Amino acid sequence: MTVSVTREGAVLTLRLDRPEKKNALTQAMYRALSEGLRTAEADPEVRVVLLAGGMDFTAGNDIADFAARKEEGPSEAFHFLETLVGFAKPVVAAVRGHAVGIGTTLLLHCDVVVASEAARLMMPFTKLGLVPEAGSSMLLARRVGAARARWWLLSGTPISGHEAAEAGLVTRAVPDDAVEEEARAVAQLLAALPPGSMAETKRLVLAAEKEALETAMRAERESFGRMLRGEEAQAIFREFLNRSG
Ligand code: COA
Repeated sequence: MTVSVTREGAVLTLRLDRPEKKNALTQAMYRALSEGLRTAEADPEVRVVLLAGGMDFTAGNDIADFAARKEEGPSEAFHFLETLVGFAKPVVAAVRGHAVGIGTTLLLHCDVVVASEAARLMMPFTKLGLVPEAGSSMLLARRVGAARARWWLLSGTPISGHEAAEAGLVTRAVPDDAVEEEARAVAQLLAALPPGSMAETKRLVLAAEKEALETAMRAERESFGRMLRGEEAQAIFREFLNRSG
């Protein structure tokens, strides 16, 4: 299994587990994540979801999957994002190592993100001949200001966990060996608070950005699909895959 699902008390942990590929996300992994979230939402015993990886959070979408994608309909990544964006219960993320592409943009939809100071967050969309997704073309500027958002999105330059915390892209950065413990403590803290108030608070927070987010995600989706199938991106994917042998 490349995504493990475990429950400890009221906290359900979804853990990416494909270390040999730095947790690059396949269609099956997105499906497992979506299912895990749906299960968590339906189970009254679950109050908080903890999303984690291992030494790396994730190297982003599997590039072989990107290269193979021909159909125009919504992808598993899209379904996963839709589920995460509207998710009613708090989501805490624990981020170590690389968090690439969707590995960074999905963090914009988590409620608390605990990152390693040494984590490397990247949104290399332009380097791949792609465009931002997960609403990041709009949300990132709201979180970190327009200047940083434009630089990070246009250049794809890596961002350390420390820098991400200073900018407000993640909630806090801690030493690498403290990430898991800190994230679990945050999840347990949230799980112990009154669930009705938690649900209502999250509903209000989501509602505040809902329309702008939907508009941004619709535009991104159209553009992403077109760019993904374009020659510019496909040539870059081939180069990456040949490099990997
Ligand atoms: N898709 C498919 N395979 C990936 C991958 C991805 N997104 N990211 C890493 N891998 C694979 C590598 O091909 C390599 O496989 P191999 O051992 O069979 O050759 C393995 O994971 C380890 O990666 P490697 O590149 O050797 O690790 P690194 O520490 O030198 O670099 C990254 C780590 C994340 C910087 C680098 O792997 C990378 O740039 N990956 C692509 C990230 C990306 O562009 N994702 C899409 C975002 S939209």
